[in-house]
Amino acid sequence: EAAEKAGYEHFMLKEIHEQVSAIHNTLAGKVSELEGTIDLKELNMSEEEIRKLSRVQILACGTSWHAGLLGKYLFEQLAGIHCDIDICSEYRYRSPVMNDGTLAIAITQSGETADTLAAVREIMSYNCPTLAITNVVGSTITREANSVLYTIAGPEIGVAATKTFSTQLILLYLLAVKFALARGKLSPDYVKRFITAIRKVPGQIQQILNQKEAIKECAENFANSKSYFFLGRHLNYPIALEGALKLKEISYLHAEGFAAGELKHGPIALLEKGTPVITIATRGQTYDKVLSNIKEVKARDAIVIAVADNTDTEIGKYADIVLTVPRSDELLSPLLSVVVLQLLAYYTALARGCSIDKPRNLAKSVTVE
Ligand code: AGP
Repeated sequence: EAAEKAGYEHFMLKEIHEQVSAIHNTLAGKVSELEGTIDLKELNMSEEEIRKLSRVQILACGTSWHAGLLGKYLFEQLAGIHCDIDICSEYRYRSPVMNDGTLAIAITQSGETADTLAAVREIMSYNCPTLAITNVVGSTITREANSVLYTIAGPEIGVAATKTFSTQLILLYLLAVKFALARGKLSPDYVKRFITAIRKVPGQIQQILNQKEAIKECAENFANSKSYFFLGRHLNYPIALEGALKLKEISYLHAEGFAAGELKHGPIALLEKGTPVITIATRGQTYDKVLSNIKEVKARDAIVIAVADNTDTEIGKYADIVLTVPRSDELLSPLLSVVVLQLLAYYTALARGCSIDKPRNLAKSVTVE
């Protein structure tokens, strides 16, 4: 086992670092910067079929559901396709209304999650074509779905998903941009710039990893907090949810993720003096609104830990602690913010002496409904 960990103290830390190569490998052979094209042969859909799509239905659980939630924003914002997302354990019991032109996308790193398989069987009973996104070749989902796209993340041993999450996101970005191009929503020039930008992500993640000591120090300072809150808006809302899930899974701390704008509709009542509130505040269309949310949090004497661009000279005036990510395209910034939150969860659990790779009560794949 020590050899498999390649010098890292835990598989989770190794796998957080492996995101650099996992994203590179997942992109390899699928994007052409020169031609501005995205090649997803395994999708088995012609441009005409993509143009005829009227809806995407995403089905997933846990971290994979968080990836899917970001996917919803991408399909709607970039490709103009209506997208619904369901938690699989709920899907079958809500009498879904089906319509022609729906593509179901099931996201599951293990390919064995019982709730996801049940939801896939349900939607396939309506003759809905189904695409699986998974990391495990030969897993049950690959035999049941009509087509499969693989995340090329390599085996993930840590129960807390990290590199499978970021590579699921990569495939969702590629699908959304491919659909947008086929439907005339994005120009080939935009797609070329997008490909250039997404290919820079592994290097940008490496820069975050190179500065992980600052995240470790922050985690150690708050490791005995009673509760932790995570706020994000727009594309970073799913990342706030994911940050909270990572922290609760491995550190056993109470953590909640919220859409930052929802704070004032109830959760703000929970804030106390000293409560750490991680706020994703990378530059983008909701930046000013996030600053307002930070002020609301500060007014309750809670502590704001902001995840912000390394070029942001303003944020330090508002936040107590700033953890930086390289300045990137707003669209792709969730791929960077999440790495900070994964490291924060990891170092918090480490400081608390938790069983990081095998947290209590959890399994790598959940094969019961
Ligand atoms: C992630 O850290 C969790 N262990 C869990 O939420 C997981 O994402 C969920 O059980 C779904 O698993 P899957 O992707 O293998 O379907």
